[in-house]
Amino acid sequence: MKQRILDHFAQHQDRYLSGEELSERLQCSRTAIWKHIQELKKRGYQFESSPRKGYRLIHRPDRFDPKHIMAELEGIDLYRDLTVHERLDSTQSEAHRLAAALAPHGTLIIAEEQTAGRGRQGKAWHSPAGKGIWLSLLIRPDLPIAAAPQLTLLTAVALCRTIRHSVHLPIGIKWPNDLLIDSKKVSGILVESVGEDEQVRYAAIGVGIDCNLTQDDYPQELLPVATSLSIESGRSVNRTALLIAFLKEFAALYKLYLDAGFPPIQTLWETLSTTLGKQVRLKQGDTRIEGIAEALDESGALLVRQEDGSLERIYSGEIIS
Ligand code: BTN
Repeated sequence: MKQRILDHFAQHQDRYLSGEELSERLQCSRTAIWKHIQELKKRGYQFESSPRKGYRLIHRPDRFDPKHIMAELEGIDLYRDLTVHERLDSTQSEAHRLAAALAPHGTLIIAEEQTAGRGRQGKAWHSPAGKGIWLSLLIRPDLPIAAAPQLTLLTAVALCRTIRHSVHLPIGIKWPNDLLIDSKKVSGILVESVGEDEQVRYAAIGVGIDCNLTQDDYPQELLPVATSLSIESGRSVNRTALLIAFLKEFAALYKLYLDAGFPPIQTLWETLSTTLGKQVRLKQGDTRIEGIAEALDESGALLVRQEDGSLERIYSGEIIS
């Protein structure tokens, strides 16, 4: 009912609506309308009320509205379904649950808050309520499992381009998927693919963007390594606008990838990378590799030239310095 009340205000350009009109249109008692409006106020919506004219919606909190988001994405085939959760353990875990329940290609899951957000290498991902974009996209692509790392690089390109265009910050990609501003992480990507007969059965593409976290929102241990778009830009970020811009950019790059393969994505990644051309130390399982990060290969692996001149292909791992 609350969503219907909000839709009704939106349809009437947020003008004054009387309790009587709302109750008639929405087939609900005036007392129930009043109670819903009180609850909406608690969630950050602000209404002006006048005994004669009724209620006028004057402020919507920065919350994700699935109807609005899907309306903005109309015409993009990729996105079929979107659910916004107030609180979830992890949108990635939900994507796997939905995949098991045969959810279709293009299912989007967003959470205002994650209580068990997951990062790469078994790390936790700090995801406080209302401060970031915590999303997963379930896709069922027709791809060999060996191409799955390319989805991580594609997502990093989409994120980096979106943040550069929307927030105008000098952000770059650290291989394979960290988005950094001045060597502090502002966004991360976790792509989890499940294969069958060497093909991708489905992939859950998880994206976390630290939008409006303040220093106080971070646990002490993250302060030296993490930052948010609002800390870096000095302005608060409209999460919905950024989310829509990212989903549009991702869909366009995904189409380019399906039509033209990995080479154009590789070129874009290389131009946005802060890793290429640098001396790097990598951890791959228990092995340490050191050398100059020269390029990506056609599969998305990082090519590292070691001191003895040999070229090492790194498919997964972490740059430690
Ligand atoms: C990383 O850089 O380590 C990856 C972080 C990925 C975090 C996102 S937030 C939305 C989605 N759900 C999760 O549990 N993790 C990803």
